[in-house]
Amino acid sequence: MTKPTIAGSRTGRKLGQRVKKKKLKASSRQWLERHINDPYVQRAQLEGYRARAAFKLLEIDEKYNILKGARRIIDLGAAPGSWSQIAAKVTGSTDEDIRVAAIDFLEMTQLPGVTILQLDFLDPTAPEKLMEAVGGTPDLVISDMAAPTTGHHRTDHLRTMHLCEVAAHFAVEVLGEGGHFLAKTFQGGTERDLLAMLKQHFRQVVHVKPASSRAESVEMFLLAKGFKGRKAEAEPEEA
Ligand SMILES: C[S@@+](CC[C@H](N)C(=O)[O-])C[C@H]1O[C@@H](n2cnc3c(N)ncnc32)[C@H](O)[C@@H]1O
Repeated sequence: MTKPTIAGSRTGRKLGQRVKKKKLKASSRQWLERHINDPYVQRAQLEGYRARAAFKLLEIDEKYNILKGARRIIDLGAAPGSWSQIAAKVTGSTDEDIRVAAIDFLEMTQLPGVTILQLDFLDPTAPEKLMEAVGGTPDLVISDMAAPTTGHHRTDHLRTMHLCEVAAHFAVEVLGEGGHFLAKTFQGGTERDLLAMLKQHFRQVVHVKPASSRAESVEMFLLAKGFKGRKAEAEPEEA
């Protein structure tokens, strides 16, 4: 009789079981071993998430409670789609009543309840297309965008910071009052002007490093909670 595989694990390995690969370049082997032996990768497979990144969002939510009550969500840099999977679930989004819009320049496999735009977020038409796709005012804008690496550390860093900044300005343009913005950033990377702008528009602004974000990575998340709304800004101050 063949041994049954562990539920959801396509490899049939037990959770935590270590795997060694031969005949690969040392750097590739290290990456592969780390990936395969990563408990978050294994958990993602078991729980049906497309990426281990799902746990970053879930851990941030556990601490800061940003998903509860969200009715419409925009997911920036969404592929392969684990954040969109969570977004569709919390909003109860369906193909008949879409509440989640996702964008990535990479192709992404369809997800029920999610309108996917295969487009560069920096394309000038992206904001309008996203708003059309989400079908109403979003209460959450989430961005896990990271610029493709060039190998030049400073360039990669600046490009990802730029994406974070453009995403923040987009969030301020489109969020409903009380909404939240979450974006990938780097340790020490958030510009002072960006932080000041967010503090002006949101009640709480914090940096978060979830446990599932690899300790050796400089990745962090910038969370801005409680959008104050555009009304106050538009109304002239009383004399
Ligand atoms: C870390 S992955 C996102 C993982 C995703 N949160 C998930 O849960 O599956 C970052 C994504 O950002 C996308 N990205 C980077 N720059 C982008 C841009 N300018 N426009 C759209 N997507 C972008 C990349 O293609 C990549 O798929």
